[in-house]
Amino acid sequence: MYEAFYNLKRGPFEITPDPSFLFSTKRHNEALAALYYGVRWRKGFVVLTGQVGTGKTLLLRCLLQLLKQSKDVAYAYLFSSRLSPTEFLQYIVSDFGLPSAGKNKGELLFDLCNFVVNRGLKGLTTVLIVDEAHHLSAEALEEVRLLTNLETAEHKLLQIVLVGQPELDDKLDSVKLTQLKQRIAIRSHLEPLDHEETKGYIERRLRLVGANSHAELLFPATTIAAVYRHSRGIPRLINTVCENSLLSAYAKQLSSVTPEIVDEVARDFRLNMVRPAEVEKLAGFDEIDLQRAARILLDLYASMHKTLPRDTEALTVAARVRQA
Ligand SMILES: Nc1ncnc2c1ncn2[C@@H]1O[C@H](COP(=O)(O)OP(=O)(O)OP(=O)(O)O)[C@@H](O)[C@H]1O
Ligand SMILES: [Mg+2]
Repeated sequence: MYEAFYNLKRGPFEITPDPSFLFSTKRHNEALAALYYGVRWRKGFVVLTGQVGTGKTLLLRCLLQLLKQSKDVAYAYLFSSRLSPTEFLQYIVSDFGLPSAGKNKGELLFDLCNFVVNRGLKGLTTVLIVDEAHHLSAEALEEVRLLTNLETAEHKLLQIVLVGQPELDDKLDSVKLTQLKQRIAIRSHLEPLDHEETKGYIERRLRLVGANSHAELLFPATTIAAVYRHSRGIPRLINTVCENSLLSAYAKQLSSVTPEIVDEVARDFRLNMVRPAEVEKLAGFDEIDLQRAARILLDLYASMHKTLPRDTEALTVAARVRQA
């Protein structure tokens, strides 16, 4: 809509992960290298985590582009991971191009192992990639563990890449999954961008769509500082804020996006509602805070009922506060 007005070839801040827009921060580079070399060196089991919107799926798409260049690689790419173990195996088997309909779990596992071992014997690489892996159930992760056992004396035969939000780290750290955790060969983590990177990120996107000399006019340094403040360097939020700010500047027929416009957009998107420091404060509620909160609730309860609750009820209320 605003493209012609700002002399741009296309929208610079679309939120679908497009590898041609990759902005190579040190962390993104390292994470992509870890994914790629983990697969190519047949390390077996690679994990990438990062908070929402930091570029994990984008990196996976970059990885797929790299892998597609090699004729000796076959991969299954699974991105909807809220699946039962059988559905999980069914999906993988059919993504590798094998028949899966009507097969039970044992048959699926048998076919998959056969496929992987046969490829391994021919020196070919087989990869299983699971995005959104934090949604995998403990049962599905157990299937993953079984698949990591496919190996020769030198190599893992199936390369497994799990990608997900930080809950995936928590799942893998759980006692139940110790065996799986011990098999992780490479683990990397994406962080939001810092201020300088946010600047580079915005400028690169603008340049890629044709804003060369006027990139700085469109998003001056003070505007970028406002974008960074509100997005906290999370790429998806940077895109949302910039896209909507551009639209708003266009509606006002301005040649520049101003910091005030960015503030307004952030307000509309309620980006200021919970600041990270407050989130940390909430998460860091210590024992005394909890006891105080429980006391307040008990007082309230007592005043409502005009009597003090019995000890057991008091404990229940306190326990609920503790869980909250
Ligand atoms: N390094 C980067 N260079 C260019 N664009 C990026 C980069 N990192 C993230 N983005 C962009 O940010 C948006 C969110 O990225 P992506 O969908 O990959 O995040 P995610 O970590 O997979 O999020 P989620 O946890 O919600 O799945 C996309 O538009 C993506 O293109
Ligand atoms: Mg994603």
